[in-house]
Amino acid sequence: MPKQVVPVGIWGTGIYVPERILTNADLERMVDTSDEWIRTRTGIRTRYIAAEHEAASDLAIQAARRALEDAGVDAEEIDLVIVATNSPDMLFPATACLVQHALGAREAGAFDVQAGCTGFIYALACGSQFVASGTARTVLVIGTEVLSRLVNWKDRNTCVLFGDGAGAVILGPVPEGYGILATRLGAEGSGGHLLSLPAGLSRYPASEETLAKNQHFIHMNGREVFKFAVRVMEEGCREVLQAAGLGLKELDFLIPHQANIRIIEAAAKRFDLPLERVWINVDRYGNTSAASIPIALHEALVAGRIQNGNHVVLVAFGAGLTWGAVLMRWYDHRR
Ligand code: ACO
Repeated sequence: MPKQVVPVGIWGTGIYVPERILTNADLERMVDTSDEWIRTRTGIRTRYIAAEHEAASDLAIQAARRALEDAGVDAEEIDLVIVATNSPDMLFPATACLVQHALGAREAGAFDVQAGCTGFIYALACGSQFVASGTARTVLVIGTEVLSRLVNWKDRNTCVLFGDGAGAVILGPVPEGYGILATRLGAEGSGGHLLSLPAGLSRYPASEETLAKNQHFIHMNGREVFKFAVRVMEEGCREVLQAAGLGLKELDFLIPHQANIRIIEAAAKRFDLPLERVWINVDRYGNTSAASIPIALHEALVAGRIQNGNHVVLVAFGAGLTWGAVLMRWYDHRR
């Protein structure tokens, strides 16, 4: 692992979710499912759904404003905006450019990262390199999704799982010994077909045929993704702890991707980590994909569950297939 020049941490966080809540009872009226099935198989009870006028950038902008305020940073001070999303407003311009403009982050470069539900971890890893190398001082990293637009609301295998939302963090230098201690990014492209949205771009341009085949929606082999998820969540955590010379005992808090309560419980069990040291909000948000980790991190911080000096692991998996983990020694920037 290359030696970091500048230690990088999170100065502030912010989240935004749309107003509308979709319950399992609502879904019972839309597809052949039941509240009981959804709760026992996934742990999800409710999820937020964007209003018609809201796209990924709208959610991102709100979350970013709150993160800037939390960090005590002005938009003009941002050097780089990175947006992780699988549901960008459009293919281009990048959602990050829309956010950069709306915030008035005049000095910032801006680009998107697309790595399935692991997108935020990839974006965080990427943004932190700019700070570590001294190329940037302040980086805004956002995970934002309006997956409700990409879900086939007639497919019970997928439509019960996802929710909309956004979470943002401000990265900046922190004192020696704090901040990001280790990062591990992984990919298994051989499993790409297990989770995809096949049409609308260069392989299968939009046509009447792609529309008729529902190829503009998310397709997923849930069972296979589940097995992959449990395996890589464990691997990811172990590898970042090992890279920093730490053991499982020194892990204070886990922020896992919120896709399914059973995946989170299985991962925690493998570590012997009590669930009190794991943030769980999949029941309220469903799977918000690239937004899931920053939303969970923000909530855990607000709840006072992460203290200065705590070792925290963020870990995710998703389409690609991809996976990734980041180990931080938390630095409370606003102390
Ligand atoms: N309501 C009722 N029954 C359902 C529903 C539903 N909403 N969805 C599926 N079923 C049925 C299936 O048709 C199947 O019936 P069958 O046995 O007659 O064929 C049965 O329930 C069981 O299906 P399984 O797939 O075995 O159910 P499983 O226990 O694996 O749970 C789930 C499915 C929730 C999708 C799980 O596999 C999972 O969470 N996988 C991981 C998905 C994930 O995390 N994706 C994240 C990445 S997303 C991204 O990167 C964009």
